[in-house]
Amino acid sequence: MIVAIMAPRSGKTSGLAIPAILSAPGPVLLTSNKAANDAFTTTVDARAEVGTIWTLDPQQIAHHPREMWWDILADARDLAGAKRLAGHFVTASVDESTGSDFWSTAASNTLGALFLAAASHRRPITDVLAWLAMPAGRTPVDLLTDAGHHAVAAQLQGTVSGATETRDGIYETARQYASCLLDPDVAAWVTPNDDLPEFQPFAFATSRDTLYLLSKDGGGSASAIIAAAADAVMRAAVIVAERSGGRLDPPALCVLDEAANVCRISDLPDLYSHLGSRGVIPMTILQSYRQGQRCWGEAGMDALYSAATIKIIGSGIDDADFADRLSRQVGDHDVQTTSVSTSEGGKSTSVSMRTERILPPDAIRALPKGKVLLLATGIRVAMLNLKPWYKEPSAKVVGPASARATKAITERALAKSIGQDDLGLSA
Ligand SMILES: Nc1ncnc2c1ncn2[C@@H]1O[C@H](COP(=O)(O)OP(=O)(O)OP(=O)(O)O)[C@@H](O)[C@H]1O
Ligand SMILES: [Mg+2]
Repeated sequence: MIVAIMAPRSGKTSGLAIPAILSAPGPVLLTSNKAANDAFTTTVDARAEVGTIWTLDPQQIAHHPREMWWDILADARDLAGAKRLAGHFVTASVDESTGSDFWSTAASNTLGALFLAAASHRRPITDVLAWLAMPAGRTPVDLLTDAGHHAVAAQLQGTVSGATETRDGIYETARQYASCLLDPDVAAWVTPNDDLPEFQPFAFATSRDTLYLLSKDGGGSASAIIAAAADAVMRAAVIVAERSGGRLDPPALCVLDEAANVCRISDLPDLYSHLGSRGVIPMTILQSYRQGQRCWGEAGMDALYSAATIKIIGSGIDDADFADRLSRQVGDHDVQTTSVSTSEGGKSTSVSMRTERILPPDAIRALPKGKVLLLATGIRVAMLNLKPWYKEPSAKVVGPASARATKAITERALAKSIGQDDLGLSA
């Protein structure tokens, strides 16, 4: 279980994510906020040789045509799953600090109840939008009662028939959280479609397929779809592993590149402790320890960091406390100092030992690009040179493939803008 913390442009994707994907023996999941010349274009051809490629690109950052759909409500058929899905929409929209105030909590509960109502009757997620628009409607309460979720139905009824201002406030907050689904082009990716293949997390766990989850930075609630899909895949993989003797073989690799930006799974720290022994390998890539704290809170980030059996720390650690903590973990060594003193009797030399940090905090801060510290359970801290994919012999093949895939993205973008010109839609 890997956590990597490295500054922007320091080789996270080229030195960690891409080499890991290119050498993965089993299924691979990648979250990313970049399409051109990044992990997606660099690995897509190589991965297409071993399995099916699934690309979930709701915000069209790779302008990828919609060739799949995923049932976002599949896990929401029980209350816990519905709540978790609602949680993804909340976490994608607000910071950890505001995620637990009254409106967020109430909106999250309401959203969870509506997801449960839709999922338990196999209704599409777009129905939830219609219910959100009309708080006074009875349909979701009836559906919940019908499905035997009496307590949830009563709770929703309580919200609906409460003070109008409170109710409207809760619903407005919930609408903001789910706002990405208002865009039919976004909602289509997670709505059943008979003409397209369905991405199935359980089948994926035992395949050699690749799932690319692409989303914009600050993409608002649309990144909830990415987080929900990554969460669903990792949970399905754990269940499949438990059913088949405890471990997935070959293991599933889940690279959460830019995790704090595009894949904010709020209980990732807890999830980490389940994945370890199941052959599901998470690689969470962050730009700083702070970024993790903003996303999961201080305690959450500490839990994630300590659950990781492999920690990789690269250049650009600006956080003084974190650098000092690392420096202490690297440890001390004895250095010999010789001092010479002159007195009437002549010169005398004394040798003494002094304890010094092997790597003081300022040296950690100044780690050059390409060098990382490896903190793995049971060994002393090691310093490594990353081997980015473009310095490997395989770059002769991978490089041109990435260039081709990048060109295809540009062409798709161009074709779209020409299409819009024809319709008189572009500015
Ligand atoms: N194909 C390549 N050939 C040569 N150098 C490259 C190539 N790809 C990346 N680099 C170098 O590696 C550096 C790091 O790139 P990379 O995208 O891996 O960093 P990153 O840490 O993932 O950045 P970000 O925070 O923007 O995602 C780049 O600044 C660039 O100098
Ligand atoms: Mg990157």
